Amino acid sequence: MRADHHLAPPAAAPRPHPGGQEHATAVAHPNIALIKYWGKRDERLVLPRVDSLSMTLDIFPTTTRVRLTPEAGHDTLTLGGRPAQGETLRRVSAFLDLVRQQAGRPEHAAVDSHNTVPTGAGLASSASGFAALAVAAAAAYGLRLDATAHSRLARRGSGSASRSIFAGFAQWHAGPPTADEDEADLASYAEPVPAAGLDPALVIAVVNAGPKAVSSREAMRRTLDTSPLYEPWARSSADDLREMRAALRRADLEAVGEIAERNALGMHATMLAARPAVRYLAPATLTVLDGVLQLRKDGVRAYATMDAGPNVKVLCPRADAERVARTLRAAVPDGSVLVARPGPAARLLPGER
Ligand code: DP6
Repeated sequence: MRADHHLAPPAAAPRPHPGGQEHATAVAHPNIALIKYWGKRDERLVLPRVDSLSMTLDIFPTTTRVRLTPEAGHDTLTLGGRPAQGETLRRVSAFLDLVRQQAGRPEHAAVDSHNTVPTGAGLASSASGFAALAVAAAAAYGLRLDATAHSRLARRGSGSASRSIFAGFAQWHAGPPTADEDEADLASYAEPVPAAGLDPALVIAVVNAGPKAVSSREAMRRTLDTSPLYEPWARSSADDLREMRAALRRADLEAVGEIAERNALGMHATMLAARPAVRYLAPATLTVLDGVLQLRKDGVRAYATMDAGPNVKVLCPRADAERVARTLRAAVPDGSVLVARPGPAARLLPGER
């Protein structure tokens, strides 16, 4: 045994790391899918059954700070200043394990996250949350990742987070089916989709900001396992995606909206046919959908999409956003209505780079 062996650091001690930041803060925005992600072909790797396409918003950012805590025996998490435990902490800690594995560093971390969107209400807080966490954690642990690698990493936290890495419109590639896990992981990430000339707004009618009864994770699992409508929807969604890309290329808002609306209604049909059924659409949701139909009859190009919750997001030309917002406010006087536009990419905060 070497005489100086006691000078060697214990295995779990922090190692000096040239690229390591020790702490970093990132901001990311939610995204709303126009072609939906619904169903996983691999739960552990978070590989989707279908490609999806979304718009990142300019409202409801999540700001997340990750600080390495070499002295701590476990990770900690605060959400909006309150300590989080249980499943929420477990999910964040499992995500940090992936970052630690990639970085080859063992330290635990303290994660502080502030959402400006109601958590768990089908307004994509997990998308902005895991996108911000991916960017902040990668920097804190000294990983230098490009946007594609950030997107792949964010995907492991929550599938839709892969798209919030990018500004504006983004497509998340399911990747080709392959038995090789590394190959599958490498092939599934989001990338920006050009949509020059489209000047859209997304008017969001929050009819119920409370947490949902069934998580989207559980609902998509049940749909895939039991819904006879799932496979037909997945097939038609591939056609929707191709048509959506073409509509975005020619800045055809009417076509973009029509395709988005039918894709979302189809997704909800798959859930309604699951056993037991998952129904996120509430009476107030249908009232808003009636309002959208009336707007179209009145000549306004307005199209609805809904996620794993009762809230409705209405795509329309930016110039019509206030008119659409007025109509939706009148339809659901107890709800709240906000106007979003295409938003920025996830980023590290200045001074943290
Ligand atoms: C309905 O990304 O929240 O919003 O990967 O299980 O975390 P997990 O699911 P999540 O699902 C979002 C589903 C959706 C549609 C979409 O955003 O594409």
